[in-house]
Amino acid sequence: MDVDDKKAKIEIKDIPVIPQVAAKVLQLQEDNLQISFNELERIIKLDPAITARILKVANSALYARQKEITNLQQAITLLGFKMIKSMILLICASNIYGKTKKKFKGYPETIATKSSVMEMWRHLVLTAFIARHMATKMKLDDRKEDIFVAGLLHDIGRVVLMINHSELYEKFLQEAGNNLEKDILRIEDSIFGYNHLEVGKLVLEKWNFPDELVDVISQHHSKHIDSPFKTSITIVSIANLYARVLVNERLSVPDLDNQEEYMKILSISEEDNEYYSEKFMEEIEKDEFYNISTHLS
Ligand SMILES: [Fe+2]
Repeated sequence: MDVDDKKAKIEIKDIPVIPQVAAKVLQLQEDNLQISFNELERIIKLDPAITARILKVANSALYARQKEITNLQQAITLLGFKMIKSMILLICASNIYGKTKKKFKGYPETIATKSSVMEMWRHLVLTAFIARHMATKMKLDDRKEDIFVAGLLHDIGRVVLMINHSELYEKFLQEAGNNLEKDILRIEDSIFGYNHLEVGKLVLEKWNFPDELVDVISQHHSKHIDSPFKTSITIVSIANLYARVLVNERLSVPDLDNQEEYMKILSISEEDNEYYSEKFMEEIEKDEFYNISTHLS
């Protein structure tokens, strides 16, 4: 990138606080499942609000359930460690996002920011569900929950830019909408002095999140991905694009170019491409877990 079109970095004062429970759960080892199960229960219980929401979400995610899940132990046993972990992150991310939304409450209906802010959570959830669906299809069973979380957090940098500089963010949205041939990262650089990948990386490092998440967040618009987590990054990157196409958003020229590359890397067939670009929405809207997730924030 040209050094010239990079503005001096704007200040980012307000970095969301990650709830204790999310930070602790991410540090839990999965090698001794019995200990982890007990630990997990102990950590979640410390936060009654999260406990209540976990039970609600857990019930929606058990597709063929026979009876209601009424306590944490049941939820952990039935859904498993990894899925509970991703639900905790889903709930924590929705809390952070809910605060962002509140900040924009007083804004007039007409401005670009308002509709975009309101749509952001839906975009994050949809990306996460597409990414997990793709990971499942590719038989990446031990990776799919982490990929789901990465999908949920991929645009955390944007959320932080919104919180800190709402007026500039609106300017960015207008410019991005008017310049579909241009790379949005460059537009961000010229307005904020940062792009949302750099901001996202900063936030996740501050939260002490695992390297895989940091790499997904900081490379999800890259054509040439350089990371040991290339598959996860590519899945979230293309899921992000499908999530836009599914709500009839037009992709920019650089995005279309990236999409082609991601399809090659993941060997996505034309048929699958069509499924994720057109039919996925109808299917996922019948999913109770998805619907509850979109209404969490
Ligand atoms: Fe992004």
